[in-house]
Amino acid sequence: MFAEDPKRFQRFSIEDCGLFLDYSKNRVTDETMALLMNLARARDVEGWRARMFNGEKINTTEDRAVLHVALRNRANTPIEVDGQDVMPDVNRVLERMGSFAESVRSGHWTGTTGKRIKDIVNIGIGGSDLGPKMVCKAMQAHIPAHLRLHFVSNVDGAHIAQVLNGVDWETTLFIVCSKTFTTQETMLNAHAARKWFMDHCGDEAGIPKHFVATTTNVKKAAEFGIPAENLFEFWDWVGGRYSLWSAVGLSIMLAIGSGGFAQLLSGAHEMDKHFRTEPLERNMPVILGMLGIWYNNFYGVHTHAILPYSQELRLFPDYLQQGDMESNGKSADRNGRAVDYDTGPVIWGKAGTDCQHSFLELLHQGTQFIPADFIASARPSYPEPAQHPVLMANYIAQTEALMTGRQESEVRAELKAKGLAEDAVDALTPHKIHPGNRPTNTILFDRLTPKTLGALVALYEHKIFVQGICWNLNSYDQWGVELGKTLAGAVLKDLQSDTPGEAHDASTNGLIARLRKTL
Ligand code: F6P
Repeated sequence: MFAEDPKRFQRFSIEDCGLFLDYSKNRVTDETMALLMNLARARDVEGWRARMFNGEKINTTEDRAVLHVALRNRANTPIEVDGQDVMPDVNRVLERMGSFAESVRSGHWTGTTGKRIKDIVNIGIGGSDLGPKMVCKAMQAHIPAHLRLHFVSNVDGAHIAQVLNGVDWETTLFIVCSKTFTTQETMLNAHAARKWFMDHCGDEAGIPKHFVATTTNVKKAAEFGIPAENLFEFWDWVGGRYSLWSAVGLSIMLAIGSGGFAQLLSGAHEMDKHFRTEPLERNMPVILGMLGIWYNNFYGVHTHAILPYSQELRLFPDYLQQGDMESNGKSADRNGRAVDYDTGPVIWGKAGTDCQHSFLELLHQGTQFIPADFIASARPSYPEPAQHPVLMANYIAQTEALMTGRQESEVRAELKAKGLAEDAVDALTPHKIHPGNRPTNTILFDRLTPKTLGALVALYEHKIFVQGICWNLNSYDQWGVELGKTLAGAVLKDLQSDTPGEAHDASTNGLIARLRKTL
């Protein structure tokens, strides 16, 4: 296709919001793209997009609007939910977060013994952990040397213990970060942190200097002992996995300052504008979303790899796993009917070049083809002159290799040129053939800044939206996760009770009996 069409790269690439997207290495023609755009129109992506931006309650099973776009609405135009403009509340909380963050960063806010805060521990899970953690890791180069960020999520006690072992109670600030303030893991970890703090400080009066909370459940946070002035609220129209732009991003603001956070928001806002106003044919989230549908529903390919060629973006695949899979991993449609088509793919990935030395073999030579997004920054954040060109060379070479592959004739010629005997050439050739024709998207930006990161995250959020609409899903609930939570409660009861029931299946009963001996 490239040989026949010298303009293919120009036609199938697009640049906006500081991001360059090359989607020319996909199995598509002009006709494919036109038909995919027809499909997006037929599914009324544009109508649903307007409903989301207008604050309509498109999360029908929870009767909620979906308005993470309001959190980064830098134009400050009114956005209403139930006839009420949400922007004054958004701006009020942002301002409070800003003055708190700057006061901690400048050393004006101190711990109870008067010492400057050095360690910030965010206690949360899922959307209350993955987004802020990913952004803070990505923005490490922008974080002042005197501040260290830690994220505790796992209910495995090892997680909090390891973090607490490395910090000093006098200089540590805990953020209890939970939309509901009822999540079992977060609450247990928060109580563990509180106990550890009290064991050292010995005085309840020290708590307000060391514990803050971000939540929609103001009442529960108050019950935990967080004073009202340490509470940063958000609203039920912010989905957990879309919440890093809200008070959930407090750790981000502490890390990169209120100015950096504002840049993150404006990058996302630019992408919101792009998504809202560009024609579908020139709309990056729509293009990525429809290409995903092309492979998922027309080729039957059910995984998608996210490969940031960036150590700083190494947590981006983890972050997108929740963003995408918790949103579109559904099998009932909006009307409650079981779907008879495939929905969300498995999202996975790892930073390059590490991924080349683990699973990329399967992408090159495995029996299935796996579409992949290659993401990178053209300029490095750290001055290591020898490293960056090599990183970039690998980033580009992988997409070339995946597409062009290595045909039999090339392999044979190469082996012969090396002087191998005919039978050795015959034996080795099949192993060295790369089928090629394996599709990739390449996303490139000038530098990894808060602004480009904001645009990148919003790009994927809207891609997920587009796909959810095409599959007729509610991408904003997560009832699947709820079952596991309920069953864990029943198992815990049996693990701890003196008279456990045998209400489960034989395997579950057997495992409970075994663990009761050690608990
Ligand atoms: O994983 C399920 C979930 O409900 C996510 O959607 C959410 O991000 C996470 O738990 C944490 O919830 P919360 O912020 O209420 O503690």
